[in-house]
Amino acid sequence: MEAKGFFAIFLALVSITGAFSATFTLRNNCPYTVWPGTLTGGGSQLSKTGFVLAPGASSSVDAPAGWSGRFWARTGCSTDSSGRLRCVTADCASGRVECNGAGAIPPATLLEFTLNGNGGKDFYDVSLVDGFNLPASITPQGGCSSTTCRSNINSACPSELSVRGAGGSIIACKSACEAFRQPQYCCTGSFNTPQTCPPTNYSRIFKNACPQAYSYAYDDSSSTFTCAAGGNYVITFCP
Ligand SMILES: *[C@@H]1O[C@H](CO)[C@@H](O)[C@H](O)[C@H]1NC(C)=O
Repeated sequence: MEAKGFFAIFLALVSITGAFSATFTLRNNCPYTVWPGTLTGGGSQLSKTGFVLAPGASSSVDAPAGWSGRFWARTGCSTDSSGRLRCVTADCASGRVECNGAGAIPPATLLEFTLNGNGGKDFYDVSLVDGFNLPASITPQGGCSSTTCRSNINSACPSELSVRGAGGSIIACKSACEAFRQPQYCCTGSFNTPQTCPPTNYSRIFKNACPQAYSYAYDDSSSTFTCAAGGNYVITFCP
């Protein structure tokens, strides 16, 4: 068989069999219940878009070849008098356990993935670009580097970025972009390149606490991790 024809059949088989798909296992190591959410970047949503994890519990979800999207965890969820689920951090405002295509309302610690991207690699990161609500990590199964944000940044959060809960304690920490909506913090306008959007005193608070995580939009060099496509991942909340 001609090489080109063989390659075409190989690609067809890869897409039929779903080679390079991945299983994500989400584990709750926090001393409190969390409600993880999932959001696909483009295309159809995963089979689970939201679920509950008691302390110590874990749950898995499969993603198809080439999937890109994000995971996060809602905290402090309860059902209101009209039967809608509401969460005090990282709510997706679906009113339900399932987020059904709705993303996290910042501040939210995000676990971001692109499977089988450039060069046949998976790309993954912990992002604090939309702020922080709880510590989280990504551990590839099979040898690639983990990336983690283990610190509780809420305890280092300056008052101008702090989100306080009903009891007055800090439950989440906004990004400076979210808090001030200014181009130098959001890397917009004349600040829309890596060269013109350097770290700020606020992004450094996040970077100092969690050096492996994205602390602002152009923090790529120290924050994006890669692994050969085809592996599975464990996401741990409160690693
Ligand atoms: C960060 O810098 C801004 C502008 O110079 C200043 O107003 C603010 O107080 C600083 N905040 C922190 C936490 O250092």
